[in-house]
Amino acid sequence: MTTYSVEIEVPDEHDIEGVDPGGSVTVEVDESEYVLAAARDQGVWLPAFCQQGWCTTCAAEVLDGDLDHSDAKRYYAVDAQAGFALTCVATPRSDLRLRACAEIAMKEHREANGLQPTP
Ligand code: FES
Repeated sequence: MTTYSVEIEVPDEHDIEGVDPGGSVTVEVDESEYVLAAARDQGVWLPAFCQQGWCTTCAAEVLDGDLDHSDAKRYYAVDAQAGFALTCVATPRSDLRLRACAEIAMKEHREANGLQPTP
């Protein structure tokens, strides 16, 4: 079993339990775990709603590294190309650097690409 280090940055304007606004935290995530669940288990309360890879509430920007989104209900190739992750259903395939709280940016990206932004 492989465990990866996932550094999560939080933008200034967001308040997440377990990370100061504008700060970052590193959590350890096994290759079989979803990033969101592992982070929450370690006290980092990232935003989420459906937890099925559908609503984009949990979206993050991928600053570095690779993730697997095989379990997502809705995740497009262009989402990966644009550097978005759905942390509720993504498992790490390398060490990662993520910037949390990217829901609005991901919805704008989907609208710009003519894709369903939300259910
Ligand atoms: S919480 Fe809905 S897509 Fe992740």
